[in-house]
Parts: sequence; C-alpha cells; structure tokens
Amino acid sequence: MQTIPIKPVGQAPLVDAFQRRYYYLRLSITDVCNFRCNYCLPNGYQPEANKPSFLTLNEIRLVVNSFAAMGTEKVRITGGEPTLRKDFLSIVETIAQQPAIKHIALTTNGYRMAKDVADWKAAGITSINVSIDSLDPRLFHRITGVDKFDDVMRGLERAFEIGYQKVKVNSVLMKALNETDFDQFLAWIKDKPIQMRFIELMQTGEMDHFFHKHHLSGQILADRLLKTGWILQEKGVLDGPANVFRHPDYVGEVGLIMPYEKNFCASCNRLRVSAKGKLHLCLFGEEGIELRDLLQSDDQQWQLQARISSALQGKREHHFLHQGDSGVRTNLASIGG
Ligand code: 5AD
Ligand code: SF4
Repeated sequence: MQTIPIKPVGQAPLVDAFQRRYYYLRLSITDVCNFRCNYCLPNGYQPEANKPSFLTLNEIRLVVNSFAAMGTEKVRITGGEPTLRKDFLSIVETIAQQPAIKHIALTTNGYRMAKDVADWKAAGITSINVSIDSLDPRLFHRITGVDKFDDVMRGLERAFEIGYQKVKVNSVLMKALNETDFDQFLAWIKDKPIQMRFIELMQTGEMDHFFHKHHLSGQILADRLLKTGWILQEKGVLDGPANVFRHPDYVGEVGLIMPYEKNFCASCNRLRVSAKGKLHLCLFGEEGIELRDLLQSDDQQWQLQARISSALQGKREHHFLHQGDSGVRTNLASIGG
C-alpha cells in the first residue's frame, strides 16, 4: 500500500500568506537599558513590581532551535541593552552552536563596546549595529540621557581594530534635534566602512507630543541623496526594509528606514520574540503570541514550531499606520526596535 506523505505544519520553511519568507529572527533578551533615549525610554527603564523573568539560556536555545529548523539563518540579539545581561556571552555562544544560524547580529547602545567587543566577536557575534544619534557629544548626551559619546566612539574604533569589516550605525531622525547633523554624518563615513542608517521616528504610546514635534520624513533625505550622486541599491533576499544608497566617492553607505513609507512591509523578512517569550509578527499593533509554555523542554519542539507557523498565517500584509491605526506600542525597548 502506498502511503501519502503529509507534511506536518511547522516543519516547512516559514512562509506567510503573502509568500514572504522569514529568514530573520529578532530576539530580545532583556527589557532593561541603562540609556534614556528621548524617543524610547525618556525616564529610563522602570523596574517592574514583580521581578520580570526574561528568557533563560535554555529557553533561548529552544526558541532558536525551532526557528532554525524552519529556515531562519540570522538572529539579531536586541533589548533593551542586551549586553547588560550577565550571561550575554553564553547566550551568544549558545546561538552560535546552532549550525543553521549563519549570522548573529547585535544591536547595542555601545556603552561596553570598547571594553568587550573582542569577547563578543570570539563568542560569535558576526555583525554589530550601534546607536549614535549625534556626532556632537552634547547633543548625544541630550538625546540619550548619558554622557557616553566618547566611550561609544572608542568602542566603534575598537570594533574595526579587532576585525569587524563593517559596522552599522543607527540614528533616529529628529526634527529640531539632530536633523542638521546629516551632512556631518555623511562627511564622517566618507572614508569609513560604516553603514549609516537614518531611522524615521516611530510613534509609541509614551510620546504622542514628542512624535508630532520631532517626526521628520526620511523622504527629504532620499531626495537629497539622489540629487548628490548617491545611488539606490537593489535589495537581496536577506535584506530588510532599509533603502541602501552608495556613492562612488564614499567608503560608507547610507541606509534609510522609513516605516511610514508605502512599500515598507513588502520586503518584511523578520519575526520578533520578546524578552518575555512572546512572538510578535509585526513591530506595530499586536499583542504577541505566548511561546513560553512550549519552551520548557526539547520534546516540545514540534508543538512550538506548529504554533509559530500557524501564528504566522495570521500576519497581515502591512501595518495600518496610514488608516488611523496608530499601531502604538508603549516603547520599543520591550521588543527591540
Ligand atoms: N523610533 C525609531 N527608532 C527607534 N528605536 C527605538 N525607539 C525608536 C523609535 N521610537 C530604535 C533606534 C535604536 C534602536 C535600538 O531602536 O534606532 O537605535
Ligand atoms: Fe536603550 Fe536603545 Fe531604548 Fe536608547 S533606544 S533607551 S539605548 S533600548
């Protein structure tokens, strides 16, 4: 008798109803941060009444195993500030042990980078994104709430010294704050292998007034770049929603991230897991799907994969920011931007 093979849900690659494939997991490992960026945690991280329990090393291993089994090749470790976790290096090493994961990226505020970047590399971090919202130390202090500009810059230099070929630098665009830093940033990357990423300010629940005061469309920058000889690059399958520009006279690149732009979601290739173990299909406006009950033992892997995979079928084609759905999240520290 012939048996018909049935492919169980959760063992196939992650593809959504709109044929987008998911290669990329953004994994937040803590909500805690020691910076107070005005667009994110203006009053600093507020400890919760009940001590929050963030994903354990073993839970992280199990999440990553399941995503890897469904086609994930890249994990980005985010926070909060991920390097504040005492077991940060063990987390990186654990993820690096999963052979399907070829890239392990880190998003950091850079405060420990000068001291620790060599250890990060040895543990398995393959690429680094560091936030630098201004090249003026005083404005940096005003935006981030901390006087650590020099430490972060030393960290960046150190990253190149120990062998990172390229580093991505994130800067959130803000009217009347750092908008005039644009030319300085461009001059800065003329001879440095930095991808300078300008991110449009996103509205979160904690900052209605701030958003309206400081939001600036990235389109103005795109127009300026195109007028001055920068060329928009084609996207590869592993590339996310950033529009990347290059210029023959510059070593560095510019990336523009414009979440309010019409086609922003078409190239979405990422899913998020929060530090408390919820799956988020989109940065904007949804509750998250609990995964933690299925992160307790290796035996639950198929169930976990089935849950992730069926949840993905509910992922919408795009966010509804334009149709009046604010998509508001309290802040991005809990989900890692
Ligand atoms: N708008 C845009 N980007 C944000 N980030 C955090 N909050 C916001 C926001 N409201 C991004 C910043 C930072 C990264 C950790 O998260 O780019 O570099
Ligand atoms: Fe911390 Fe990053 Fe939020 Fe700044 S943006 S407060 S560095 S989590």
